Amino acid sequence: MNIAILTSGGDSAGMNPAIKRFIEYSFELGLTPYLVYNGLEGLIDNEIKKATSKDASGIINRGGTVLKSSRSKRFFEKKYRKKAYENLKKLKIEKLVVVGGDGSFRALNAFYNDFKMPFVGIPGTIDNDIHGSEYSLGTDTALNIIRSAIDDVRDTASSFRRGFVIETMGRDCGYLALVSALTSGAEICLIPELKADMKSIKKRLKKEFAEDREYLIAIVAEGTHEALNLTKWIEKEFGVESRLTTLGHIQRGGTPSTFDRLMAYEFVTYGIDALLKGESGKIVVYRNAKVDLRSVAYVTKGKHKLQPELLKQAKKLMS
Ligand code: F6P
Repeated sequence: MNIAILTSGGDSAGMNPAIKRFIEYSFELGLTPYLVYNGLEGLIDNEIKKATSKDASGIINRGGTVLKSSRSKRFFEKKYRKKAYENLKKLKIEKLVVVGGDGSFRALNAFYNDFKMPFVGIPGTIDNDIHGSEYSLGTDTALNIIRSAIDDVRDTASSFRRGFVIETMGRDCGYLALVSALTSGAEICLIPELKADMKSIKKRLKKEFAEDREYLIAIVAEGTHEALNLTKWIEKEFGVESRLTTLGHIQRGGTPSTFDRLMAYEFVTYGIDALLKGESGKIVVYRNAKVDLRSVAYVTKGKHKLQPELLKQAKKLMS
């Protein structure tokens, strides 16, 4: 049986370990693995080749995706999905594994509705914003990169009397910012999911500056669009110079963490097993400390929410 894998949307650490596991597990099961290059665009343009065991070597420690990725607009048009389906048919590819984020899964939902092409999705995005899954590949590696950056900023912050604002990625999701703030001892955190009480933050930190506070660190999720405003606000309210650091795409790079390699292994193993049992149109998810499946319709229709316990912690840094 021929089976293919592609990576789609924003790349994330864990995609390469997932590709490696896909190739090796396919061979182990007697399947013929295929690689689709350039994400959903490559599916349309027939950039598909048979994998060899060499394709799996030397990639487990690499960030990004050796298959390359794309955010395909064309795939949202039926004529291109039809082309993609015909390419798969020509190569007698019967099953598909797609590693990506919610945009990719929405495109796949349409593909599934059109042609009932058997596929499983694997969450792969640093944003950790997949509805129905508590984990997406790349999140742990991104958190480690952010932690290391905040630790470095703290060195200079503690040498001056200054405010430091650090903006993290995450699109509309505050997960990266919130977990980073909690695990780095930040004084302020702004995320799109909760409204901050600036009056209360001011009162809390004014008192601390009047006592022995020398500097402060604030973590801001990009989805709030408040990083620059907060930097100016800190200068105005506390009378300390402030600096803004936008971490940007460095958060998407780096060698995949042990956890991301392990999760890639588990997600792909579970996904291929599920496909062979006849499952289809499903996303492999992580919930209640277990790998599981959810329908693509469920995952793409709902909006991801931060866990209530995390949100409770957030309140302390937003008031
Ligand atoms: O979805 C992953 C992500 O890195 C987001 O955190 C960010 O908003 C976006 O992608 C950036 O997209 P691009 O790489 O296309 O600029």
